[in-house]
Amino acid sequence: MGALIARLPLLLLALGLWLPAPTHAARILGIFPTPSISHQLPYQAVMKALAARGHQITVISPDPLKEPVTNYTDIDLSFSYKLFRQMITFADMSEVDPVTVVKLLTPGYFQLVDEQLGSKQIQDFLKYNASQGFDLVFYEWWGYEALFGLIHAVGSPPQVGILSFGGTVVQWRSIGNPHNPAINPDALTGFTDQMTFWERVQNLMSNIILTWHWEGVMFTEHEKIMRKHFGSAPPPVYDTSRNLSLLILCNHWTLEYPRALLPNVLQLTGLHVREETRPLPGDLQTWIEGAEHGVIYFSLGTNILCKDLPAEKLQAILRALARLPQRVLWKFENDELPGRPPNVRVAKWLPQQDILAHPKVRLFITQGGLQSFQEAAYHAVPLLGIPFMGDQQYNVAKMVSAGIGSRIPLKDITEDSMYAATMEMLENPKYAERMRRFSGVYREHKARSLETALWWVEYVLRHEGAPHLRAASLRLAWYELLLLDVAAAVALAALAALLLAAFALRRLWRALRPSTAPAHHARLRKDQ
Ligand SMILES: *[C@@H]1O[C@H](CO)[C@@H](O)[C@H](O)[C@H]1NC(C)=O
Ligand SMILES: *[C@@H]1O[C@H](CO)[C@@H](O)[C@H](O)[C@H]1NC(C)=O
Ligand SMILES: *[C@@H]1O[C@H](CO)[C@@H](O)[C@H](O)[C@H]1NC(C)=O
Repeated sequence: MGALIARLPLLLLALGLWLPAPTHAARILGIFPTPSISHQLPYQAVMKALAARGHQITVISPDPLKEPVTNYTDIDLSFSYKLFRQMITFADMSEVDPVTVVKLLTPGYFQLVDEQLGSKQIQDFLKYNASQGFDLVFYEWWGYEALFGLIHAVGSPPQVGILSFGGTVVQWRSIGNPHNPAINPDALTGFTDQMTFWERVQNLMSNIILTWHWEGVMFTEHEKIMRKHFGSAPPPVYDTSRNLSLLILCNHWTLEYPRALLPNVLQLTGLHVREETRPLPGDLQTWIEGAEHGVIYFSLGTNILCKDLPAEKLQAILRALARLPQRVLWKFENDELPGRPPNVRVAKWLPQQDILAHPKVRLFITQGGLQSFQEAAYHAVPLLGIPFMGDQQYNVAKMVSAGIGSRIPLKDITEDSMYAATMEMLENPKYAERMRRFSGVYREHKARSLETALWWVEYVLRHEGAPHLRAASLRLAWYELLLLDVAAAVALAALAALLLAAFALRRLWRALRPSTAPAHHARLRKDQ
């Protein structure tokens, strides 16, 4: 502990944290249920930084820290990994649209939160620790709403939502941030902000279907699971979902597109990206340095297992790579990759950030995961994307539109198309050149991200949830927010005015019409 405290100023210096010390240490609970390390890395970065500022941190997650940190306690839900792996084979998802993937995952989310809430770890926490209360709750704002019961079990403190990617219409809605489907592509589409008419139609439909599925189907079931574990005490899931003091999204306009943001919505990036580079292990350093024509790094992340790819696709990729003069470093789940050519080296685990930092690494073949994109942007490595699911299509669309990468869908991969795509990336210097500029912009924003997070979290603590930032849009129904009621009233008023004018004109016409006058008068005379 002494050593840690001694290293603290250095650590803060390294992080660029010049914030004044917080006036009081807060008790902060983090609820991060997704069994996927790429989700957990940015959350851990924020929670560790808060602990380093003297706050007391408790984190409920499937990824407890490997090295203990002072004032940071983990509640270990690592059992959740097994369940998640059984739920879905992500490698099969390359042709399925992401909203459908969310629907496919939904029963798994229900099972996951139910098992997590029923676990001894959480039950013990509720029994022994919840009553001491917390000053703030962070929760992963993604499909686990039954866990809102935990927020109320620890005394309903102000809430911060955090998500390891850019969020969907549901997250924007939840804090009342403007979201315009004409210019804001959903992170679950493969569109950019320049959408054609047909893409805008699809974007809008995707928004409506997702909102209906999430706030209708998912909220209803989560409500039941929450009642099962917490009884009638917690307020409805929907109300809590619209109660955020702060929303932290881990995508950023540099990696997507400019959009309107409320003051309590932060787009932060690269929270998990290390600025210092560590030496590469074993002979990896000499292997990379010995690559006369440079190195290609190949990894589809932690969720898509390369061994689950269709065999003919895997072999086509390997035959294409065998024709290249470059060396290829491939993250693969098994010790051996059948059909591996001599220029390809496989490993189960690789220090990705340190590899991307090496100047010999010239291309990153990726599934387009956001954390990988951030690391590549930081280290200025051009990308070739093979997108599968979630926000991967969206991220790869950005790489293509920014001119820092290209895209090859799994279904289009043959030996020749893969070879051509890779050669284009290596031989056309425009990708590296654009990436160099892109990286310069990216680094500036990355450098301030963690500091921004800490400042805003402590702001919310200082101002008891900062209710003055609550957007008025949260009070309005959807048709009021779209001004449909006003439009309807204006249309009705216009219609009424028109009808009235028509009526008056008709009366006037009748009164003055000469042709009818004699007959009319004649009849009148006769009646008399
Ligand atoms: C841990 O928390 C205690 C109580 O808030 C505080 O006094 C101490 O300085 C913290 N330690 C570190 C390393 O921040
Ligand atoms: C819960 O409380 C027990 C007993 O006070 C303590 O030993 C334990 O560290 C606490 N756990 C957490 C996660 O705060
Ligand atoms: C909203 O958060 C506040 C604390 O900021 C809490 O008092 C209130 O109970 C919460 N309401 C809901 C519906 O979760």
